[in-house]
Amino acid sequence: MEIFHISAECYPVAKVGGLADVVGALPKYQNNAGHLARVVVPGYDTKFKSENDFECVHWGHVKLGNFSFPFNVLKETTDMLGFELYLIEIPDLFNRKDVYGYEDDIERFLSFQIATLDWIIGRGSVPDVINCHDHHTGLIPFMMLYCHKYNKLKEVPSMITIHNGLYQGQFSFDKLYYLPHFDLAHVHVLEWDNCINSLAVGIKCAWAVTTVSPNYLNEINYSANGLESLFNLVRYKSKGILNGIDIEVWDPEKDSALEKNYSIKNFELGKQKNKEKLCKLFDLDPSKPLFSFIGRLLEEKGGDLLPHASALALSENYQQINILILGSGNTTIEKQLNSLLHDYKGNYNTFIGYNEELAHLIYAGSDFLLMPSRVEPCGLNQMYSLRYGTIPIVRRTGGLKDTVIDFGDNGNGICHDQASVRDICYSIDRAVDLFNDKKQFNKIRKIGMNTDHSWERVCQEYIEIYKLISNKI
Ligand code: GLC
Repeated sequence: MEIFHISAECYPVAKVGGLADVVGALPKYQNNAGHLARVVVPGYDTKFKSENDFECVHWGHVKLGNFSFPFNVLKETTDMLGFELYLIEIPDLFNRKDVYGYEDDIERFLSFQIATLDWIIGRGSVPDVINCHDHHTGLIPFMMLYCHKYNKLKEVPSMITIHNGLYQGQFSFDKLYYLPHFDLAHVHVLEWDNCINSLAVGIKCAWAVTTVSPNYLNEINYSANGLESLFNLVRYKSKGILNGIDIEVWDPEKDSALEKNYSIKNFELGKQKNKEKLCKLFDLDPSKPLFSFIGRLLEEKGGDLLPHASALALSENYQQINILILGSGNTTIEKQLNSLLHDYKGNYNTFIGYNEELAHLIYAGSDFLLMPSRVEPCGLNQMYSLRYGTIPIVRRTGGLKDTVIDFGDNGNGICHDQASVRDICYSIDRAVDLFNDKKQFNKIRKIGMNTDHSWERVCQEYIEIYKLISNKI
């Protein structure tokens, strides 16, 4: 099948969170399975763009109401990603370093969506399916159905994959005139809570809706930042498909970011060497269990609980543990985390920022990974950590509940129910006991390393839905 994935992020082109990892991997595995999957993302001013070769395959002007922005479609030519990559370059709107966070984000992503469809429609042949990802591409299914100039795409099935329903891309009806011409009889489709809500529009208009884990699909029926009733209405066309991971990028046997590579056969020594390196880098004690957190420091991820939980766990355990935090986000949380550096020197450290290489080393060198998320539609970090023999400590929510089972129930990790300091500390205590019982500790690590979360297995589930909506079965 010929598939277009349209997204705001794609690893290694531009990454803020897990969305990038999924869009950078799933298409590759779909291609390996004999399909033709392409990826379209905005042409941000990133390192990837400056370091790789592109050819311009299309140019034009994207119209946004009375505004008109020149754009180019650049095709990546080195063919190293495992899929065809297209950048929609709109210099006025995307020639910036960051992916999100600008006042004109609505204009930016709306222009991206319109330019993408302008280009697709101009290519001659239409694809078998268009897979949109999150709210930044949520208006595409609407425009395909109702905007006159995209009439040729009316019969092309669209699907929206929801990576995080908290963010919905709402904007006021004042900006309605930005949209290409459509029959106003359909204007109600755009509305949710008196706004144009990009995610809600995508959910209403797409031929299929997927979430990134089955349990998250259950949860959003009663907790979805205002979209609960909509999710109930579209149950008939919704499915939760658990994300996979790119086992080529995340492979402790070949990972070049590690101090020592290892497999399930020699993981004890391999992990020890990586831990020693990590402890040296961050002035930690390699003889004590190492708990790490990797990710965005946001409330959604339980980041606000980390400062208090770390201080309590370090003092209650008489400094018998190490804690290492890699991430950035909310500046108050960042400051609170850094304020502990002095008191717990030698057992605690932070790296405020984003560093992909370091993340790999932390997965390899840690004993436990903390994920106290309040909301976690899927979560990839627990899967990376399982693959690297690091035991995840998770709150039972979203995809974490689908992938991590408490070791007390013969599982692969440690689970708690509340996103609270108490629950995190209780789990850390249990982890310390487990660490001291080497036989049991190694058994659980092996269970994790044996878990198969590869896209190879799950990418077929996407294809089945594409076929279903395009009646190809
Ligand atoms: C978002 C979600 C995360 C998910 C990722 C990829 O970042 O917050 O849970 O794993 O998207 O789908």
